[in-house]
Amino acid sequence: MTSEKQVNVFALVMAAGSGTRVGGEIPKQYRLVAGESILSRAIKPLLEHPKISAVTVVISELDESLFRQHCGHLKNISFIFGGKDRQESVRLGLDSFSRLNPEFVLIHDGARPFLPKNVIDDILFGLETEDCVIPVLRINDSLKEAVADRITRSIDRNQYLRTQTPQGFRYSKIMEAHLAKRGLSLSDDAALLEESQSLATVNGSEDLFKITYENDLKKAARFIASNFEYRAGHGFDVHKFGLGKGVILCGVHLPHELSLIGHSDADVALHAITDALLGALAEGDIGEHFPPTESEWKDVSSRVFLQKAIGLMEEKGGEIVNVDLTIICELPKVGAFKPRMRQNLADIFQTPMKNINIKATTTEGLGAMGRKEGISSHASVMVRLPV
Ligand code: CTP
Ligand code: MG
Repeated sequence: MTSEKQVNVFALVMAAGSGTRVGGEIPKQYRLVAGESILSRAIKPLLEHPKISAVTVVISELDESLFRQHCGHLKNISFIFGGKDRQESVRLGLDSFSRLNPEFVLIHDGARPFLPKNVIDDILFGLETEDCVIPVLRINDSLKEAVADRITRSIDRNQYLRTQTPQGFRYSKIMEAHLAKRGLSLSDDAALLEESQSLATVNGSEDLFKITYENDLKKAARFIASNFEYRAGHGFDVHKFGLGKGVILCGVHLPHELSLIGHSDADVALHAITDALLGALAEGDIGEHFPPTESEWKDVSSRVFLQKAIGLMEEKGGEIVNVDLTIICELPKVGAFKPRMRQNLADIFQTPMKNINIKATTTEGLGAMGRKEGISSHASVMVRLPV
């Protein structure tokens, strides 16, 4: 695989397990860490990686509604149903790619919520010259052999490595190995190939730990608390009415006898949210990024502005916590359009609807909004940024 040549790299996220060791009412991959499911967190870095063409999640038939509830906000992912053990689930997942002619596949555990982008980069770089690339960690503690919890001898820890996921493979090799070794129950995919292939390694990450026991859920919460800070931002915008038919709010067209006047599509709600997000990121304001003097932004959909601000947030490794929007106008009446506006925002932010709120109010006839001269909006956003 060369960097210049676009090759087909697919990702498979394993989430068909029942998480018996963690216990609880729902499988561990659907448990929340700082408001977002472990599985959604595990999927996102793969979904956002520019060199990965498609992501398929393997889930249990019993969990379809949990999956829709916790990962429905992620666009461009597909899912299939898994099998009785991890190995069968992986084989079914690999098989689902067979007609798409994949060259490489990354197989990741849906129970590893913190996947650093540089680990994916290193694996993909490794696959330029290798057929199998496995992220590993050295062992720091002294290693002992034990029988019934009694130490019998010391072992040379330098001979051992801890393996993590995602594990990267040439598709044909891992598919072949899965077909040849059906029925064996091994704990990772590298184990299927270790006899027949040389397995290259790259540095994994301590952040990439798997949620295996109840304690790991606490560790994940601590990870977020100690690695991220919360930042609030506020945005305000106003546009006046002029000739035209209808207004655009949060990307939704609302019928009205007038339009909002502006350089772009004058979506006053998206402008306020964009400014709020830029505020939380300390990135100035919308006018600095998209000067109204530049013809490039003439009549453009304001979604472009918000998406650019979201891009800045993602470049910093940030994630949206919530958005709260207030639209101020006498007319048009916004209420009936709120669900579609909310859905649009959830889609743009790729976040569950629970993180988006829209309010609308009049000013009781007072001031410019009260005289129906235009529409104004206030927005607050909260983001989580790496410290
Ligand atoms: N997995 C899977 N299909 C299975 C079993 C496991 O896709 N039949 C997935 C899990 O959902 C998890 C990953 O493989 O994301 C790693 O497995 P593990 O940590 O063992 O998860 P569980 O099998 O769900 O947990 P446990 O072993 O405690 O029951
Ligand atoms: Mg298991």
